[in-house]
Amino acid sequence: MPSLPERIGFMGKGLSGKSARMRYGRFDDARREYVIHRPDTPLPWINYLGDDTFVGIISNTAGGYTFYRDARLRRLTRYRHNAAPADGNGRYIYLRDEATGEYWSPTWRPTQTQLDAYECRHGLGYAAIAGTLGGIEAQTTYFVPLDETLEIWAMRLTNHRSESASLSLFSAVEFCLWNAHDDATNFQRNLNTGEVAVASSTIVHKTEYRERRNHFATFSCSEPLAGFETQRDAFLGPYRGWDRPQAVERGATSNEIGVGGSPVGVHHVRLELQPGETKRVVFVLAYHEEEFPARDSSGRKAPDVDAARRAVDVFLRPARVDEALTALREHWERELGALQVNTGVPDMDRMVNTWNAYQCAVTFNVSRSASRYESGIGRGIGFRDANQDLLGCVHMIPDRARARILDLASTQLVSGGAYHQYQPLTRQGNDEIGSGFNDDPLWLIYAAAAYLKETGDTSILDEPVPYGDDREASESLYDHLLRAADYTTARLGPHGLPLIGRADWNDCLNLNSHSSDPDEPFQTVSLHDTDVAESVFIAGLFCLACNDLVEIARRRGDEATERRLRTAVERMHTAIDTVGWDGDWFLRAYDATGAKIGSRENAEGRLFVEPQGICPMAGVGLDDGRAASALEAVDRDLSTDHGLLLVQPAFQAYRPELGEISSYPPGYKENGSIFCHTNPWIVIAACRLGQAERAWDVAMRINPSHREAISEVHRCEPYVYAQTIVGRDAADHGRARNSWLTGTAAWAYVAATQWILGIRPTFNGLTIDPCLPPDLDGFEAVRRYRGATYDIHVERGAVPGDAGVIVRVDGDPIEGQILPVFHDGETHTVHVMLGHAPCEGAP
Ligand code: BGC
Ligand code: NOJ
Repeated sequence: MPSLPERIGFMGKGLSGKSARMRYGRFDDARREYVIHRPDTPLPWINYLGDDTFVGIISNTAGGYTFYRDARLRRLTRYRHNAAPADGNGRYIYLRDEATGEYWSPTWRPTQTQLDAYECRHGLGYAAIAGTLGGIEAQTTYFVPLDETLEIWAMRLTNHRSESASLSLFSAVEFCLWNAHDDATNFQRNLNTGEVAVASSTIVHKTEYRERRNHFATFSCSEPLAGFETQRDAFLGPYRGWDRPQAVERGATSNEIGVGGSPVGVHHVRLELQPGETKRVVFVLAYHEEEFPARDSSGRKAPDVDAARRAVDVFLRPARVDEALTALREHWERELGALQVNTGVPDMDRMVNTWNAYQCAVTFNVSRSASRYESGIGRGIGFRDANQDLLGCVHMIPDRARARILDLASTQLVSGGAYHQYQPLTRQGNDEIGSGFNDDPLWLIYAAAAYLKETGDTSILDEPVPYGDDREASESLYDHLLRAADYTTARLGPHGLPLIGRADWNDCLNLNSHSSDPDEPFQTVSLHDTDVAESVFIAGLFCLACNDLVEIARRRGDEATERRLRTAVERMHTAIDTVGWDGDWFLRAYDATGAKIGSRENAEGRLFVEPQGICPMAGVGLDDGRAASALEAVDRDLSTDHGLLLVQPAFQAYRPELGEISSYPPGYKENGSIFCHTNPWIVIAACRLGQAERAWDVAMRINPSHREAISEVHRCEPYVYAQTIVGRDAADHGRARNSWLTGTAAWAYVAATQWILGIRPTFNGLTIDPCLPPDLDGFEAVRRYRGATYDIHVERGAVPGDAGVIVRVDGDPIEGQILPVFHDGETHTVHVMLGHAPCEGAP
């Protein structure tokens, strides 16, 4: 098969005229790093520091920002989204040669001085950015130590000159006044609130501490200071940007404590470096919260800076820094150790082993709240998003997945519906970004089932959980799941399909909005009559989730519920068969007038990808040829070199009866881009049909590593999935947008590991049921599961008779493909022999 760049040869050039084959870095698989070798990547290529408590976003040129728990309410540093030049504000460092007055940023930004050497290594939870100019090498490793609410910038400065160097070093952050929304809008107030203090080498940001806040930030340095700045204007000078700070140019700071304005933290350090000498300098930016605020000598509330410094100063020692970085690396090795594979295909292995798993963990931590594309002030943890995100990391972090499921359930409503999001700081659900998405509750069932299949921990089902709209009404999680299912069955439309409400998974298919007012957001506009428009997607999702719920009920011995739900699933299945099938593919929906959407009767929006994935995933159409026919249609009409389009033909004009989907230009976002999230659904559907080659092919087209060779076209980071890739209706077809925080991560991971490689948790144990393309002869994997480790060897070979697959565990053949559950802390060897025939298609 021709390689991706060969296949897309028709493009020739990327968007900026550079060769479409351009790479900006390479994977260092052994170190689990992506190494960027030039700073001017098409977009800032970012990484995440920390976990869900203390989070930093960092670009390959040190741009980004930091927050504690909630990107809106506890923002430590400012970031300028949508700024020119891109990636405004970050963790800036300037070096100044005292002999010549020349100054530069060893991370390239913000001075953008041409460096003699540059390299950024994005690793798991850290970024190490190195820049050399005129023989002075500076490498800075940025990371958040485990379980700490602080970030370290650990610098290593080396003088490669033959004579000694006299240098000034400046660090710079711009503090955010905590509430990022207010900070960006309410200037009449917040230009008069800023407060800072300086104690030795520690700059304290204490805005509003004297009134209601009990938190403050510190920015510390391991060296004695030659000076400091606390006000942006004093540091930069009026009418200057971060690229030419006046204090750096001058080589001296004002050393004044400012009030109001824009508080910054700038350290000035003087260094003499002998020829060949290396010196380590450490900066620490930290968040502090005090339960019982301290008082100063006059009795006023004041941050306990001494205590804060005692906590932070240990991290100013290089030895402690090294220890913390090692612990971080070990942490990730341990987490990723839940599943490691060796297929011999680097695009597969490095995504599964490192980057896709890591992206799943990051996305689990921050949901859709904070990235370069999510401002951090708009969205908290999304209900459907978080439920899907945990599918990709429940095997790595089962305890946190458990807690998340319970948190999500507690934002469920008594009606069985759900708040669409909740804020991480308060864990209270809210409708700020809309409500009435009728698919929402079903994802809770699916996520809980995934947790049970992974862990076998049925105790979660009996956990008492309150409701988002009635904190007193506590019921078991199991009852919550039943309410979720009943929410759907209580809301069926004229065809017996689920009512869509505001929208389903496709947020932009707004069949009940009919909005003509440009000032009302589609996601929150009030809805018209919601009793007609129906979703085939929700019908498929209902079958998918409730197949599991039926099994959960059966295992609990709740026969009445089991029977009731089984009947509900059968009815839904029949409804899809009778009114959800369009002849060659699954219909998408019925609109508010009862007209078909996603049908051959439509001139635009004839074929939507989502139901073609979810229905076969739920087992619909597997036996009657419909799923196969639907995948043929997808292949024929939606397939591009860059992945599968969400819908074709795209909508050319705004259609009020369809809503936001038709508001996007054709080829963008929900209007016919490659909305990556849906592609793994087709991979899974293909695996269910035993179509191994198709599954592999679809998975590879959106695989970031596979697309690395066309970085100049793709533009986003080649190590993580993006939400969307521009579709073929638009001139920049192939260009990815909105990287990092996307449900694509979890589904791509599930599709690759559970369906292509076939290492799939079930209620009864781990099954090994690969669906491998013909040129893959086998693979090896190590999987931790329910208290044991499986050392898995899969190979294609001669399987006698019609056995299909032979599985041996510790040398002995087993019945079927589900491995015994051991719970013994031991490692067990599993040999799986696949016949030469294509895979059968899983039940
Ligand atoms: C986007 C969707 C997103 C929704 C909610 C829409 O504008 O197109 O992808 O899910 O907003 O934020
Ligand atoms: C992104 C949203 O976060 C997700 O919830 C939604 O399903 C997709 N967009 C598709 O609209």
